[in-house]
Amino acid sequence: MTFSVEKVRNDFPALKRERNGKPIIYCDSACMALKPKQVVDTLVGYYTEYTACAGRSPHMFSRETTKRCDESRVKVANFINAKDPSEVVWTRNTTEALNLGCGILELDGTETIIATSESHNSNIVKWMFLENAGKIKLKVLETPLDHPCEIELIEKAVNECESGKFLVSLAQVSNVTAAKIDVKEIAKIIHEREGYFLLDAAQSFPHMPVDVQDLGIDLMGVSMHKACGPTGMGFLWGKYHLLEKIKPLILGGETVSDVYIPDQIVMLPPPSKFEAGLQNYGGIIASGATIDYLSGLGMENIHKHEQRLSEVMLKGIAELGDKVSLLGPKDPKQRAALAAIDMKDINSHEVAILLDDMANIMLRSGYHCTHAFHHQLELDQGTLRPSWYLYNTVDEVKIFNEKLAEIIDVFS
Ligand code: ALA
Repeated sequence: MTFSVEKVRNDFPALKRERNGKPIIYCDSACMALKPKQVVDTLVGYYTEYTACAGRSPHMFSRETTKRCDESRVKVANFINAKDPSEVVWTRNTTEALNLGCGILELDGTETIIATSESHNSNIVKWMFLENAGKIKLKVLETPLDHPCEIELIEKAVNECESGKFLVSLAQVSNVTAAKIDVKEIAKIIHEREGYFLLDAAQSFPHMPVDVQDLGIDLMGVSMHKACGPTGMGFLWGKYHLLEKIKPLILGGETVSDVYIPDQIVMLPPPSKFEAGLQNYGGIIASGATIDYLSGLGMENIHKHEQRLSEVMLKGIAELGDKVSLLGPKDPKQRAALAAIDMKDINSHEVAILLDDMANIMLRSGYHCTHAFHHQLELDQGTLRPSWYLYNTVDEVKIFNEKLAEIIDVFS
């Protein structure tokens, strides 16, 4: 399987856009990835050729929708090496998956959730709500900036919890420090104390192979929109016996096999019990096309390509000296292909707008849904965050480096 970025770029119509006679450079993929035509065509196909509900009506369109939805679940399951497709529950995004996944706890005030301070709001706000409501005890670890998620800190926190009464919820790749954690090692530590490991894979699933059995985790949340897939689609993966224990967040049609008024409800098993009401069928089917697309390129190839982009970006940032500082580990091998750059007194939004206006460089600025972490580090001006993906080129990264240096020079 060969990987050619030029060939890949032909699949993304958005990359052909220009402004002021210059090409665009899209480096906001940690927020939203662009979509290849294969995924868009599949979505349009559903809406133009066979729009129907899955699993309900007996007609041709409905059968086609059902078949394709079932196939998508199988594709996702195979892609992450789940034991069975029934371990995959469709959600809107990682946020919903994490909200659902924490339901493995009794939430009776005796259990602990462990998270880290650089966590995305989707992996901290719910826990804060639960703690405020007296349903859990929350431990937020302030991990060292240059060595996020230090194993010793996790181990200490886990050892302080009552055995079997805790859940650790961590991002495999941080959306601000870019740090990759040692999931397998952490899983061993958690399981020695009979805790649960919920993995936020929003920033890892699109970029590297993720094998849930090999990683040894219990539950995992993923967003498709960061993986070249449709918006409003994600999934929770969980070991089946754990999914059996979790209560649905929403109840309604297709979650039950029978109902008798006033009080008899026969719930369906997972994943159906979690998927109430009409679903985003077009999104589910396009998620299957997304998996086909990524599998066709090879996740190892994608990861290798991005590592090269990351190295070029890190070199450019290093050349800026002490005018900027980089959040997260310095070693490129410990990082994904994104960077939150602190430009000291320079406002990150102003730089992002200038990059967009001057050079069509599109990226994110501000707090990146990690408000608490930015407050902890007193980064009031926010940080500038380029995030690269399979369709970016080394030349694009070099242009970003040049333009950023020019802007910082003007401000300094
Ligand atoms: N999680 C997304 C980001 O980091 C929204 O940009």
